[in-house]
Amino acid sequence: MKFQPHHKESLVSLDEAVVFLKANQPVAIPTETVYGLAAPISSEEGLKAIFEIKARPFFDPLIVHIDQYDDVFSLTSFWPQEAGLLARHFWPGPLTLVVEKSSAVSNLISSGLSTVGLRMPLHPMMRTLISRCGPLAAPSANKFGKTSPTQAQHIIEEYQGLLPVVDGGPCSVGIESTIVKIESSHRITLLRSGMISQEEISQVLLEHQIPFQWQNISEKYNTEISPGRMKHHYMPRVPLVIYDPQRETKQPRISEFSHDLLKEFYLQCRAQIPDSVEGVSLVKPENIKEVHELLLPSSPALAARQLYSLLRETPPSADLILCNGLQIPKTSSWEPIWDRLKKAATLVWS
Ligand code: TXA
Ligand code: MG
Repeated sequence: MKFQPHHKESLVSLDEAVVFLKANQPVAIPTETVYGLAAPISSEEGLKAIFEIKARPFFDPLIVHIDQYDDVFSLTSFWPQEAGLLARHFWPGPLTLVVEKSSAVSNLISSGLSTVGLRMPLHPMMRTLISRCGPLAAPSANKFGKTSPTQAQHIIEEYQGLLPVVDGGPCSVGIESTIVKIESSHRITLLRSGMISQEEISQVLLEHQIPFQWQNISEKYNTEISPGRMKHHYMPRVPLVIYDPQRETKQPRISEFSHDLLKEFYLQCRAQIPDSVEGVSLVKPENIKEVHELLLPSSPALAARQLYSLLRETPPSADLILCNGLQIPKTSSWEPIWDRLKKAATLVWS
């Protein structure tokens, strides 16, 4: 069976998705974090198609999603004690563990790195698909560098109905998993923040008296250690400008966030904004007729759940999304939301 594209209507059942996946055709699938674009790890054709559909560079590795804990032993060459503890504590859930891979993981998945990112998702439909097709490699289903989808409708709109989508409802977490790299010498590196925090991870290891040390990633090695750690990511269709004045700023200080001032700031900076960063093109409208303010719920869990929908659902008439950073706390539970906002922004007043 081959997927027949339907204009703006591309939902498929779980049974149909299994048929497509087994026939090497990537399918957009729900997880509790964001929707992914999946292919079985043994399907070279399906994996290549993922990169092509997303316009994703081959240097950016894919996460492998598993359904059975024991799969970690065939997919890795070394499974550290820390990884076992964290997996048992946080799986199924939004935590990806990067460890040394085995030969069962192709270079296409790991982008030539010696490691693989593993995650056991919580979403029951995704679990069913993995149990029927084997481990599935899946990046977020957005086009490279753009906002991740958290509803089936986001994918239907982004791909104009050309991609089969399993509708699993809105994602409950709403932002991508926390990614942690674990090395044999008890060295742990946070590669991407997420709703499972660094503090929670430390607590679990401390409770089990496991020695460990968090490693810092210097800017220089940023993309070397994790090729997906780019400056611009998650970018919405309409450019986002954030007002986040710091104490020691060179910018003139304004005490109050104002749409007009931020619009003026954008227009002054516009000429200096590059056309593209790390292969992701930036949208830079010349005339700003209408602005739209991004308003987030006041709890971090709800804000994460709604962030990408709010960024995608900007009114079509708006030319700029403005965000008042003064209203978003700088506490650790908001850190993953700040991370996504700053990377999604075309311009930050800081
Ligand atoms: O929540 C999630 O993690 C979602 C859902 C679908 O599971 N997936 C996701 O995939 O966000 P993606 O490809 O959009 O982001 C995965 C990130 C990329 O930045 C990639 O560079 C990094 O994980 N990554 C994957 N394997 C890695 C590895 N072996 N070493 C370092 N970074 C890795
Ligand atoms: Mg992604």
